[in-house]
Amino acid sequence: MRFTVSLSLISIAAVAKCLPSLVTDDSASIPPSSTVFQFSQPVDHFGLNDDVWQQQYQLNATFYKPGGPIFVVTPGESAVSNSYTDGSYFNNLAQEVNGMVVAVEHRFYGKSNPMPDLSGPSLKYHTIDNVLEDFASFIRAARTAPGDVFPFAVSPDSKVIFGGGSYAGAIAAWMRAKYPSLVDGAWASSAVVQYRLENYQLEQSWGKHLAALGCATGMSQAVNQLDAVLLSDNQTAIDEIQSLFGSPSLTPRDFAGLITSLIGVAAMYPNYEGIDYTQNTVCSYFDGQRSDLDSFAWAVRDIISSLGLTQQAMTQMADTSLNWDNYALGQSGRVWYYQECAWYGNWQITAPEDTGLAPYHSRLVDLTYYEPNCRNKFGSDMPEHADSDGFNQKWFGMLKNATNIYYTVGSLDLWRGSTVVPWDGDSLPNTDVSPIYLMDGATHSQDVAHPWSDDLESVKDARNVGLALVKKWIA
Ligand SMILES: *[C@@H]1O[C@H](CO)[C@@H](O)[C@H](O)[C@H]1NC(C)=O
Ligand SMILES: *[C@@H]1O[C@H](CO)[C@@H](O)[C@H](O)[C@H]1NC(C)=O
Ligand SMILES: *[C@@H]1O[C@H](CO)[C@@H](O)[C@H](O)[C@H]1NC(C)=O
Repeated sequence: MRFTVSLSLISIAAVAKCLPSLVTDDSASIPPSSTVFQFSQPVDHFGLNDDVWQQQYQLNATFYKPGGPIFVVTPGESAVSNSYTDGSYFNNLAQEVNGMVVAVEHRFYGKSNPMPDLSGPSLKYHTIDNVLEDFASFIRAARTAPGDVFPFAVSPDSKVIFGGGSYAGAIAAWMRAKYPSLVDGAWASSAVVQYRLENYQLEQSWGKHLAALGCATGMSQAVNQLDAVLLSDNQTAIDEIQSLFGSPSLTPRDFAGLITSLIGVAAMYPNYEGIDYTQNTVCSYFDGQRSDLDSFAWAVRDIISSLGLTQQAMTQMADTSLNWDNYALGQSGRVWYYQECAWYGNWQITAPEDTGLAPYHSRLVDLTYYEPNCRNKFGSDMPEHADSDGFNQKWFGMLKNATNIYYTVGSLDLWRGSTVVPWDGDSLPNTDVSPIYLMDGATHSQDVAHPWSDDLESVKDARNVGLALVKKWIA
């Protein structure tokens, strides 16, 4: 459920270091939140490469009063923009407690590029330890030498709350766990903190929602029928089924990947801003008037036409090796792929047959659909499989005794299986020091979104609980 959001970034060149650090008229010197600042970082914090690059950040200090806290957020796998300083609940929190919001771009995303390209050798500096140390260095400067970071007067030793949603929610939690003396507390919304080589928990969460809507059995039967054809070696039947789904002629695996992506983009959104896309885009087609396979095909054809996809666009969408030798900067999908190959796997696949679980996507979308591209894209140094268990033991393990982390998870969050309260498997205890709020009926990271009129009661309540915690942490 990750798609590339393209946000317009108004880039106003500004170098914080040239600006005076002591000013008396605060309101006159607070820059618009669209101003982009830069902070110098080494390519590698652990001595492998001391070259310097510039990390981008933007800030909203409209509500800041001396002594107030700094809410540090990161867009994670997206480019920074003032939607992250102005358009999230952290902006409201800042208003409540005289704080400011600083959005710091994640290395290798947006324009925060440690290296001149995105080749495998350049991306070897893309480690989670470097990512977190970038944020830590920024926070250290903000606390000890605020004049180096802010173009207006900011108190030294400010309290710092790290916040984020989804992958950035995990970063928030890790920042508090790893740097408790720099980060006073973390608000980790729908934090994706459990990593597995095979992430079929996402697909199975969606299956639970299909079941609640009454079309899980139909969908899973349709998928089984589809797979029987795709695995049949009967080219006539394979051609027929691809044309039934409105697809160009592809290999069976790429075709399965295409359909899975289309469903992921258009249908895996239960209760998103009051609309249930799973119901509208998939389940409403399973109305008993036609076969399950025809219902599925009809739903997919309608997704294709509503997205206006050409045959060429679909061929590209299906091909995970696309642009394997294009190293140009600015490809967030490529950097994300590297994280999957080199850090944690977490490949979004369908439950393998030996789990005994019903499938809701084609089983042809398995590890062999994704993993071979790691070496194609990033070179022969890539491991055959990511060390998901090692990553998880270290980074999920680190959270087990961490304090001052507020975890929020929606009960309908499809990513719930990767959070601190999965359906089954390892969960964190809900403690007074690091409480967990399971928001009834909510989906992914709704609490940290900008408040709107139709917010669920559970989301509003989770925000109030979080606000009280923030007040405690900064007191
Ligand atoms: C800060 O965010 C608020 C929205 O709450 C917005 O109205 C204001 O213009 C922003 N401040 C600056 C200086 O851009
Ligand atoms: C292959 O599929 C076609 C179309 O569904 C069918 O008519 C034909 O009998 C199949 N061939 C075999 C050998 O099963
Ligand atoms: C973490 O907390 C648990 C339970 O309180 C305790 O048994 C364990 O020893 C602690 N681990 C560390 C690394 O402090």
